[in-house]
Amino acid sequence: MDATDKCAALRARKTEGPPIAALTAWDYPTARLLDESGVDLILVGDSLGMVVLGFPDTTHVTIEHMTHHVAAAARGCQRALLVGDLPIHSYDTDYATVRNAHLLIEAGAEAVKLEGGVEQAGKVKALTEEGIPVIGHVGMLPQRVVEEGGYRRKGRSAAELAILIEGASALENAGCFSIVLESVVQESARRITKQASVPTIGIGCGAGNCDGEIAVTSDVIGSYPWFVPPFAISHADVAGEIRKSVAAYIASCREATPSSASS
Ligand code: KIV
Repeated sequence: MDATDKCAALRARKTEGPPIAALTAWDYPTARLLDESGVDLILVGDSLGMVVLGFPDTTHVTIEHMTHHVAAAARGCQRALLVGDLPIHSYDTDYATVRNAHLLIEAGAEAVKLEGGVEQAGKVKALTEEGIPVIGHVGMLPQRVVEEGGYRRKGRSAAELAILIEGASALENAGCFSIVLESVVQESARRITKQASVPTIGIGCGAGNCDGEIAVTSDVIGSYPWFVPPFAISHADVAGEIRKSVAAYIASCREATPSSASS
């Protein structure tokens, strides 16, 4: 299937189901394992700034970081739709948006994602006119963590919900084939999902309130123990397994006696 067919198939999941299962990846082995496991969509998210590059948040991620990691993930992804995140300041103008989205596509992404609501509609239109499929992202926006002074749940009042609905509807009308909802309170996530005619993909919105789920893979496999969002559900303890196997390796190195030492 080409990118257009994959996006159309994902869009149809809104009405036909089953719910979309999406995860993030940042390198070849992770993308390949996720793809072989049957995930529908792989996002090379700018969360890689935290879980791979060691920055305190996503505001340090550049388009160069993203193209490097998209290219690696693309080499491991055969079947799922591969989406590249546009990092902060890479879509400040329509011109920059289109130019940087093309860089992600050239690196191997089949679609791009950007954060924000009504204010991004013009950029989404510019991208879709270029034939680049776009996923929107409303609710808590990690690229705004510094200006907002932290990670706050969204959709907690009627006024906040109205802004989210207006944003989701502007993104959809501009051509987004799907919209990520992040850290939106459950009732509001359900309302946005009901109003949208494209699938919503939730993270931190509770189970069953969106048309699909996305998670940061290191949260799911337990490979980044230093920061785990409160809503994350781990299905493994990869960090624990790494620590155990490295301890065993170190012990085996220290037990071995070099032939020069015994002679
Ligand atoms: O960067 C990322 O991983 C994301 C997900 C949290 C949706 O944007």
